[in-house]
Amino acid sequence: MAESIFRSDILLGKVALVTGGGSGICYGITKTLMAHGAEAVIVGRKADRLAAAAEELTRLTGRKCLAAPADVRDPAQVASAVDKAVSELGKLDILVNGAAGNFLAPAATLSPNGFRTVMDIDACGTFNVSRAAFDKAMRDNGGIIINISATLHYGATPLQVHASAAKAAVDSITRSLAAEWAGLGIRVNGIAPGPIDDTEGMSRLAPPGFKEQLTAKIPIKRFGTIDEIANVALFLCSDAASLVHGATIVADGAAWLAMGPGLGT
Ligand code: HXC
Ligand code: NAP
Repeated sequence: MAESIFRSDILLGKVALVTGGGSGICYGITKTLMAHGAEAVIVGRKADRLAAAAEELTRLTGRKCLAAPADVRDPAQVASAVDKAVSELGKLDILVNGAAGNFLAPAATLSPNGFRTVMDIDACGTFNVSRAAFDKAMRDNGGIIINISATLHYGATPLQVHASAAKAAVDSITRSLAAEWAGLGIRVNGIAPGPIDDTEGMSRLAPPGFKEQLTAKIPIKRFGTIDEIANVALFLCSDAASLVHGATIVADGAAWLAMGPGLGT
């Protein structure tokens, strides 16, 4: 792993639950939190991929990582996953809501169920897991919640009515929970990544060919990396972010400022 500018023990003794931690950006976030001392539970629907990811994360960091297969749309499955963190790792200090679903689809043909599915995973999922973490751990002990968002909804992104609505809801949840729970020692924030290399999200939204076109419009002339998003998450988990509540930090190389909302289409 690349050398970190953060002390390697800043999260020692902490337990993190990361939805979507079996792949992509949230796998990277989990790896970084574990490399700085945390133990982790990762959540996703695909049990085999999740188990393999948990094993690899343990091998890479030397810390405990458990797989808890669950669909974030199902509050009962979510409750079991949170129970696993508390019963097997003893507590829950950090929650990262990263599970999401997306695809390109024109509003004119997107079915109501297609719209609802993405709202359900991203927005309802974020609420479901936050509520379970609150009930089972954070109400009494405080904690840190990080919701993974996007910049799609800062304006209007074609072919993304479902994901834009869902991420707008996620940002709203971030602000509401921050305001309601700050007094209990719970710090709720978000991260809005721009286009990130080597991810399922970008292979769905920026297929080969389009990637070059998009890169040319990004001020830093490249996509972000998974490690760069993981470092923002680590900052938010650290005491250096003690005054940061209810913020969604944009990490996109100024992409949306320069291109306007959306993907420069
Ligand atoms: C139109 C689609 C569709 C598509 C599914 N649907 N794919 N509609 N175009 N490509 C519709 C289906 O027809 C169905 O509606 C409804 O959505 C539910 O589909 P299911 O396949 O039953 O859903 P499910 O199995 O629950 O899977 C959810 C999923 C899937 C979102 C559709 O893609 C998924 O599991 N994705 C997880 C991984 C992922 O998306 N990663 C990328 C995150 S990136 P009907 O009416 O037919 O029943 C990301 C980037 C954000 O979020 C911003 C980047 C800048
Ligand atoms: P990814 O690898 O596909 O990550 C999504 C994860 O969510 C997967 O591990 C998936 O696992 C899990 N998931 C999906 N539906 C779920 C459900 N119903 N219940 C539980 N888990 C579920 O994609 P990614 O590109 O790294 O995206 C990660 C996050 O970053 C997402 O929130 C995304 O919106 C955000 N983001 C990404 C980009 C980008 O450039 N990639 C840009 C902006 C924002 P299972 O399939 O096993 O369930």
